[in-house]
Amino acid sequence: MQTRDAQLLVLSALADGPMHGYALNAAIERIAGSRLGESSLYSALNRLRAKGFVEFAEEPGRRRPARLTAEGHAELARGRRAAREVFEAVAPEPGEYLRSAAASAAGRSYKEVVMERLELGPGLTVADLGCGAGADLAAMLAAGSAVIGVDIDPAMLARAAEAAGPDATALDLVHGDLHELPLPDASVDRARTDRVVQHVAEPGRVLAEAWRVLRPGGRLVMGEPDWDSLAIDHPERDLARRYARFVADRVVRNATIGRELPRLAAAVGFEVADVTPVTPVFRDRAAADAIFGFRRVTTRAVEAGYFVEPEAERWLDHLATGPFLAAMTMHVVTVVRPD
Ligand SMILES: C[S@@+](CC[C@H](N)C(=O)[O-])C[C@H]1O[C@@H](n2cnc3c(N)ncnc32)[C@H](O)[C@@H]1O
Repeated sequence: MQTRDAQLLVLSALADGPMHGYALNAAIERIAGSRLGESSLYSALNRLRAKGFVEFAEEPGRRRPARLTAEGHAELARGRRAAREVFEAVAPEPGEYLRSAAASAAGRSYKEVVMERLELGPGLTVADLGCGAGADLAAMLAAGSAVIGVDIDPAMLARAAEAAGPDATALDLVHGDLHELPLPDASVDRARTDRVVQHVAEPGRVLAEAWRVLRPGGRLVMGEPDWDSLAIDHPERDLARRYARFVADRVVRNATIGRELPRLAAAVGFEVADVTPVTPVFRDRAAADAIFGFRRVTTRAVEAGYFVEPEAERWLDHLATGPFLAAMTMHVVTVVRPD
């Protein structure tokens, strides 16, 4: 742990009142999930004392509880503000976000499974349904297949065209809505979605359209999340549950689509060939924040009444300063249009 983090933890723990070493470390454990080593604790205390943020109360006997001075309270408020600034306040530009998400370890972990299940090769045509900024178009082209990227957002298609460059002659970028695909019946061998069906108005209709454009024997591979599985470690588990509930209830339209896809696909006539869950684990708070946007989403959770302000502060303080762990399951679902 960084020296500054240890000092902020000590200040946070002392905000509840004067404490001596053992009680202080127990309070730190409640905040951060683990105690500080004895030497880190006392070196943080001594540094804070040297800066005038902490003083030792004069009490009879050997136990001399530490307490915050007025400057210590002010430093704690400053530290908390700075800690929350660890997280992005403004959403990144969407194309940029999609490219960095695809390049992250979490993104690569399930995307590799999607690519494997697609079984691309020369002579095949694949439709990338909701291709976004084209994060995976190059990989599909490299497999030797002809690629059709479809997206409803012209700005995304422009980003995808720019990224592919003029030499990508086997690539066709098409503006269209997945509910009414601008592609002929039985015209592609493969199709895929990647975090797309979670956003559409009518997942059943999108699956029926995919079925229509696939040739008999063709396969659709979908990598879609189950936001109900979002697990973020926090000493106050109830806050983590409420945050995950807010995201699943209010942020993502079809939040549990990953687990629903086999049922929805079977209903339109697909055979379900495989379901592979992949659970990326995030231990780097900045990498997780790039995907989850903790500060922005927490602000919305307060507005929606899932947190009150002091809870939001405790939630973000720990995410910003404590050991970090978050995980969420992506389902890679492979379905086949029967011959
Ligand atoms: C999270 S992005 C994923 C992009 C891409 N699949 C990737 O892996 O980087 C979702 C994309 O789906 C597109 N999209 C959402 N609803 C759509 C619809 N009804 N028709 C076509 N595209 C849609 C969005 O414009 C966006 O580019």
